[in-house]
Amino acid sequence: MSKVTVVGAGNVGATVANVLAHKDLVKEVVLLDIKGDLARGKALDSWQQASIDYYSTYLKGTDDYKDTANSDIVVITAGIPRKPGMSRDDLISTNAKIVTAVTKSIMEHSKNPIIIVVSNPLDVMTYAAYKASGLDASRVFGMAGILDTARYRAFLATALDVSPKDIQAVLMGGHGDTMVPLPRYTTVAGIPVTELIDEKDLDAIVDRTKVGGGELVKLMGTSAWYAPGAAAAQMVEAILKNENRIFPCCAMLNGQYGVKGLFLGVPVKLGKAGIEQIIELKLNKEEMHLLEESAGHVRSVMDVFKNMDI
Ligand code: LAC
Repeated sequence: MSKVTVVGAGNVGATVANVLAHKDLVKEVVLLDIKGDLARGKALDSWQQASIDYYSTYLKGTDDYKDTANSDIVVITAGIPRKPGMSRDDLISTNAKIVTAVTKSIMEHSKNPIIIVVSNPLDVMTYAAYKASGLDASRVFGMAGILDTARYRAFLATALDVSPKDIQAVLMGGHGDTMVPLPRYTTVAGIPVTELIDEKDLDAIVDRTKVGGGELVKLMGTSAWYAPGAAAAQMVEAILKNENRIFPCCAMLNGQYGVKGLFLGVPVKLGKAGIEQIIELKLNKEEMHLLEESAGHVRSVMDVFKNMDI
């Protein structure tokens, strides 16, 4: 029987736990937060929803890492979210310490978990967890691409007046304004999206996607949680069911796309061992240029992290 822990009982963490419970995949989800009563409260609230929405997954709220012992999958959402006017990168000084400390505490109680990072700045926080965990890079990766493509798919669904279910898309690069949506790899039920929408309208959707997180921060005064939580839960599901689903995830690159030693969003195959494969697309010159720009940006945030000497 698998065990899943979610660290951080803020909006995103609580949503991950709640969506996971609805999927009814595991006996128990542990929701941990340094604010123990917040975790206990949200877990209890979600457990009280079980008889209404028909699931058996028990939710346990805690502030004690002992309760996370022998977790198969750990989702890290701990850290502070953005406020209006902030970029994800502005969070690094606070969140790098939190993610590092959380990962070390997790590793004291679980031997070989798979860790999914959600905290921002995502690409660098995933590296922080990788480094602090000592795990193989196939077992530490970040959630960003599913969320960013979900935003892209939602905007396309609205513009085309079709179901978002039928929109398939790939998006690469860092989880920031330099992310690279790929219209050439976007289809609507198999139809290339470029056959259905004007270039100008598609460009506007690509631009809106890149700042999609910021749009929500402006509207709500804090960052989003429904789509981010559901996206992380979808990754957990793919792993637990060994589905070998293809998702854009933040993964350690080791020469793929000409990038080495950096976590960056790329399409991967997700199964029971974590990242089973990194898929290398034949990007054209322009796409490759955009990806390099995005990698360059992530590298500059990595430099800030490395100089922090945590
Ligand atoms: C966002 C945060 C979760 O993009 O990074 O909404």
